[in-house]
Amino acid sequence: MIKQEIEDSIAYLINKGFDSPEIGIVLGTGLGSLANEIENPIEAHYNNIPFFPLATVEFHTGKLIYGTLEGKKVVVMQGRFHMYEGYDLQDVTYPIRIMHRLGIKKLFISNAAGAINLDFKKGDIMLLEDHINLLGGSPLAFKGVSQFGERFVDMGEPYDVEMRKTLQGIAKKENITMRSGVYASVLGPQLETRAEYRMLKIIGADAVGMSTVPEVIVANHLKLPIVAVSVLTDECDPDNLEPANIKEIIRIAGETEPQMIKLFRGLLKTM
Ligand code: HPA
Repeated sequence: MIKQEIEDSIAYLINKGFDSPEIGIVLGTGLGSLANEIENPIEAHYNNIPFFPLATVEFHTGKLIYGTLEGKKVVVMQGRFHMYEGYDLQDVTYPIRIMHRLGIKKLFISNAAGAINLDFKKGDIMLLEDHINLLGGSPLAFKGVSQFGERFVDMGEPYDVEMRKTLQGIAKKENITMRSGVYASVLGPQLETRAEYRMLKIIGADAVGMSTVPEVIVANHLKLPIVAVSVLTDECDPDNLEPANIKEIIRIAGETEPQMIKLFRGLLKTM
């Protein structure tokens, strides 16, 4: 990644009308419909944006959408890049650098995840308070990193405290059960073994998924405040494990999505 590539991507988006968005939003697996609520949308398909990672065959829906939501100028990623699709960590986080360069001041992230903490249930929402990176790599481990910011980024408080508090208040007011916990990111795409679920619990994870952490690391690199929520789509009980079912995961994500939308809209309203 070089700065000129970012400038070429930005020139394309600005030319399309992506004018100074204030907030960036990443929509996770099964969580894309907030994009349909954006007013006066302008769409840019990932495949058409210069220097964006090239989409894989299965990955049709990826696009950046610019418009307004709750009176705020937003840019929304409908679909993200995952390491398990064969992208490297710089590809996965390239859109975060682009949204930052477009001018966003805050980033909201969503994902689908499995519940490791068995007090949490399928269909619950979990606010990320911290994470464990099990991807085996960092999006900041590259030669030119100091052109983009500090190399040794502090990760003592990766998720913005104020926005977390605000979101908890909104959840309470809206009667939404929102848990809070630690998200562990794994490479995938295979689901975990029972032994791995046991390990995740022992090391302090409350939820597990295959995204988000690289994006959060890069956002911290850019000093971009983040709030992130997981929609818990399955319960990872090593002693009563049901066969993995991706269709069911997507179905549960879709069912819970209206609550996530309420939370994000509520948060936008406070800004
Ligand atoms: N493991 C990893 N990623 C996931 C899971 C899981 O159980 N559920 C949803 N995404």
